[in-house]
Amino acid sequence: MSVTLRPATSADVPAVAQIWRDGWRDAHLGNVPDGLVEVRTDESFGTRAAEQVGETVVAIVGGVLAGFVMVIADEVEQVYVSAGHRGTGVAAVLLATAEQVVLRNGHKQAWLAVVEGNARARKFYERQGWADEGPFDHHAPSTDGLILVPAHRYVKVVSNA
Ligand SMILES: CC(C)(COP(=O)(O)OP(=O)(O)OC[C@H]1O[C@@H](n2cnc3c(N)ncnc32)[C@H](O)[C@@H]1OP(=O)(O)O)[C@@H](O)C(=O)NCCC(=O)NCCS
Repeated sequence: MSVTLRPATSADVPAVAQIWRDGWRDAHLGNVPDGLVEVRTDESFGTRAAEQVGETVVAIVGGVLAGFVMVIADEVEQVYVSAGHRGTGVAAVLLATAEQVVLRNGHKQAWLAVVEGNARARKFYERQGWADEGPFDHHAPSTDGLILVPAHRYVKVVSNA
């Protein structure tokens, strides 16, 4: 499998939004408060993908946008691959890239939030060397302000690849 990584452009926003919307549902329905589901409308993913294009790195496999990461300061804010590219190793390449971005942003430790019921993601993070620091109150951003979402905080000390 050959994976090409590059910064996202505005032309990538529709594909990023679709992977984000579909993956968000796969990972979060039944695992987060109803109030968060209500604000995560179809349009909301397009809006946020456009707003955060500058923080997004995309993975291209066979000419197709297979997944993306978004990094803000020391937080790996989003890690998503399309359903057809899960279990292929693309996600590990993306997460390693996100760790390097955190390092370039001047931080020695990266963190991320994951909901307790997202078993696949949690196993993936642990296999990539991330540690579960336990439950915390995550405040997820939305157009209605911050929404309290019980989550786990995962951390990893980052170093030069
Ligand atoms: C999280 C994500 C990026 C991980 O990428 P991936 O390609 O699926 O990850 P991998 O297949 O390499 O690793 C997942 C592990 O969980 C296992 N797994 C699969 N389904 C599982 C399930 N329902 N419960 C528990 N573990 C599961 C896999 O077997 C694999 O373990 P292994 O390495 O021991 O075989 C991807 O699944 C995804 O985009 N999910 C939807 C969006 C999401 O949850 N993003 C993260 C938000 S915090």
